[in-house]
Amino acid sequence: MAEFALPAHSKIVPGKTFRDKTNARVRAVRIYRWDPDRGGLPRLDTYEVDLKACGPMVLDVMIHIKNTIDSTLTFRRSCREGICGSCAMNIDGVNTLACIQPATEIRGTIKIYPLPHMAVVKDLVSDMSNFYAQYASVQPWLQANDDNTPPRERNQSEAERQKLDGLYECILCACCSTSCPSYWWNSDRYLGPAALLQAYRWLADSRDEATDERLQQLDDSFKLYRCHTIMNCTKTCPKGLNPARAIAHIKKDIMQRNLGKPNAAKAESKAKPSTAAAKS
Ligand code: SF4
Ligand code: SF4
Ligand code: FES
Repeated sequence: MAEFALPAHSKIVPGKTFRDKTNARVRAVRIYRWDPDRGGLPRLDTYEVDLKACGPMVLDVMIHIKNTIDSTLTFRRSCREGICGSCAMNIDGVNTLACIQPATEIRGTIKIYPLPHMAVVKDLVSDMSNFYAQYASVQPWLQANDDNTPPRERNQSEAERQKLDGLYECILCACCSTSCPSYWWNSDRYLGPAALLQAYRWLADSRDEATDERLQQLDDSFKLYRCHTIMNCTKTCPKGLNPARAIAHIKKDIMQRNLGKPNAAKAESKAKPSTAAAKS
């Protein structure tokens, strides 16, 4: 009979409680902690926080904890505007950005964990190496034939530009990929919804001429077809994007390619030469 064992450091034990001493009305904030220098099992520390003393978002609460209660708490953040993607974590059971999640919308204890199924560097900091390598593997840059280089910029019509809406806004926070059960089990070979949405961003770009090579590279039972349309990715995206739809478009484009049919989006672009300047 097969025997299963939990990976190292997967059992979480109760940690310290930091009591509030000001008699304010407090909320409990429970946070996953693990320090590679100390080793041992991860723990859940509880902080009693007066939410009136913090800004409105969960990230504000965490910064308050770090500044006034426990300076050892470790997490990533930069923009505080939902733009950089660095504060992605699991809050109250949902992958989201701490800087745009209002603390007051959470009932009871605020529970904060790192993104699921990622190796932990420290506390709430996940190891993103594999995620970024997968992003790089889809060659996320414009590839065009040098012979076709226009004298000035590469123009797009408004309709061509609109095809990038819902794609270019991705901030690579990894909330989607780390909510995807297929990615949990096969993240070494399945590219996951974030990298695939980025792959489609270039397939949908009228200026890109590497469509065939890109589709050929993605036509792989693990890289692409581990997506089983479970839709967790779309449900969790804090930017309101739809990676599952982008993946469906890639599958359709590959099917058309394998049937010898022209790519619908690119065929349309060729039929209507671009005249208007790109809008961004
Ligand atoms: S699609 Fe959404 S959830 Fe996924 S990486 Fe991009 S912004 Fe984050
Ligand atoms: S739709 Fe595909 S990528 Fe999105 S969560 Fe489901 S299996 Fe994962
Ligand atoms: S700090 Fe940049 S997205 Fe949250």
